[in-house]
Amino acid sequence: MCGIVGYVGAQQAAPLLVEGLTRLEHRGYDSAGVAVLGSRLQVTKKAGRVRDLSEALPKRLAGKVGIGHTRWATHGPATDTNAHPHTDTSGTVAVVHNGIVDNAAALRARLVADGVELASDTDTEVFAHLVARSGADTLEGKVVEALGQVEGTYGLAVVHADFPDRVVVARHGSPLLIGVGEKEMFIASDLAAVVRHTTTVAHLDDGELATVTAGGFTTFRHDLTRTTTQASAVDIDPSAFEHGDVSGEPRMYTEILEQPASVERTLRGRLDERFGTAHLGGLDMDARDLRAFRRVKILGCGSAYYVGQMGASMIEELARVPADAEPASEFRYRNPIIEPDTLYVAVSQSGETVDTLLAVEEIRRKGGRVIGLVNVVGSAIARACDGGIYLHAGPEIAVASTKALTTMFVGFSLLALQLGRVRDLSVADGRRLVNGLQRLPAQIEEILKTEDHIADIARDLADAESMFFVGRVRGYPVAREGAQKLKEITYRHAEAYPTSELKHGPLALISPKVPTVAIVPADELTDRNVAALHEIDARGGPLVIVTHPEVDLGDLHARRIDVPRNETELDPVLLTVPLQLLAYHASVHLGLDVDKPRNLAKSVTVE
Ligand code: F6R
Repeated sequence: MCGIVGYVGAQQAAPLLVEGLTRLEHRGYDSAGVAVLGSRLQVTKKAGRVRDLSEALPKRLAGKVGIGHTRWATHGPATDTNAHPHTDTSGTVAVVHNGIVDNAAALRARLVADGVELASDTDTEVFAHLVARSGADTLEGKVVEALGQVEGTYGLAVVHADFPDRVVVARHGSPLLIGVGEKEMFIASDLAAVVRHTTTVAHLDDGELATVTAGGFTTFRHDLTRTTTQASAVDIDPSAFEHGDVSGEPRMYTEILEQPASVERTLRGRLDERFGTAHLGGLDMDARDLRAFRRVKILGCGSAYYVGQMGASMIEELARVPADAEPASEFRYRNPIIEPDTLYVAVSQSGETVDTLLAVEEIRRKGGRVIGLVNVVGSAIARACDGGIYLHAGPEIAVASTKALTTMFVGFSLLALQLGRVRDLSVADGRRLVNGLQRLPAQIEEILKTEDHIADIARDLADAESMFFVGRVRGYPVAREGAQKLKEITYRHAEAYPTSELKHGPLALISPKVPTVAIVPADELTDRNVAALHEIDARGGPLVIVTHPEVDLGDLHARRIDVPRNETELDPVLLTVPLQLLAYHASVHLGLDVDKPRNLAKSVTVE
């Protein structure tokens, strides 16, 4: 959410900043801007996309030091003025900022009372004025003094015309890293912006600042004492961060198609066929530790929460340990009871979602044990947890999550299997699940082959203003995720309901104009599911049924999407895949920007 870039070196900064912003655009795409420090400080910023900024840049924009930002609006609408960088009145200081200044209103009022004319509606602008008004001799001292007055979260980069050789950066709750090149340094909120130039990076810790010059960087705390943060090489393929692929397909599409391979990566080296269990070294727990847990609590946001629900039901089924999932965003505000014999699991693609991170910190503060199911290696949530399972989905760029979610499900299956096998799950059942997990990549491939059929259905659905997604028990979180995906990228209203609850209210809305997408696996509830769908059919509600080939839908008027059957516990992940394609093709049909849906951004780093 919002992206920061910076450069100090021998090259012209502007093109590098714009290139970095393009790679971060999924983090926020309301507006973008750069500040370049040459013989003077020049700022260009624009509402809209990075390409709008690029067109607005002056022809001659010389300078080898600069910072840039792509914004997801929190305070104030997306206008040229509210875009970052923000400057002080004299245009000496420029600042880009991710995060939220909680006491912005008070600081703004104080600045206005002191006669400062504020140019924007943003919270960030106060930083520029506070840095400019500081009496400290060094830029580091000025930034520290300004930060001392600010409450809130920040990833921050500051340039100052009087200190033209450097960028000072600071981190508190919003990620920031420094990429080390050959006599040049890159700054970014996300690896994606620097990997084309360098894979040697230093991640700042919370509470840390750094001075970045062409020759290197030094890190320090708010009391200006030095810290020892070092850069190290990250093992990453830069091409994995490209937006869109060579064929020009949206990134969401390539990420959907990548799922057989990403699921394979999650499983690699973790299955034990002989003993029907999983090896999860990253948990750093032996059988006795795992047996000691009497409850599992899963925390995540949005789609990660829905997959958490799928995970909870798998854990209950396989390990017979009470398990539930809760939105991480609500958790810490209800003063949760943290129990020593509960295993807390934080699930997050980005590893940066601040609501999830704060939940983890609250659990740890109260002595609880948290593991992470996280995709981004070294991310804040991964670092804050006691151990975990990396998902290895590869970089996910499209705002709507797909391949990360299927790997989260697989991560939960591995955890459920291991928790089960140290309890009552038999070796035979363990082997059955190991075998089922091994079949998943090929079965996802099979579903992807039915894309044309799903696209055809998606075109019809796209015309409906409103629709239901329904499922029962294991199928209900699948329905929630299906509705979420559709809402995000088509802007159609989609509401998920347990199928069993329809007759308790929502059936009143069913009409020929309100379709229902129903999840009907071949399981112990098939007959009840089909009976409930008859109630929709009888009222003229169009039906799309995602089901297994062996399910007999009788005389229901419905379009069906068949997915291959796996073990009952693992079926939800396969039932989810067609819903991704359904949302994707509906969005394409409507001519929308699939990868960058309105009002959203990848990684929600503000509360
Ligand atoms: C939906 C989506 C979001 C994320 C949520 C959590 O497609 O992407 O709902 O799942 O914001 O993000 P992470 O997993 O990064 O914590």
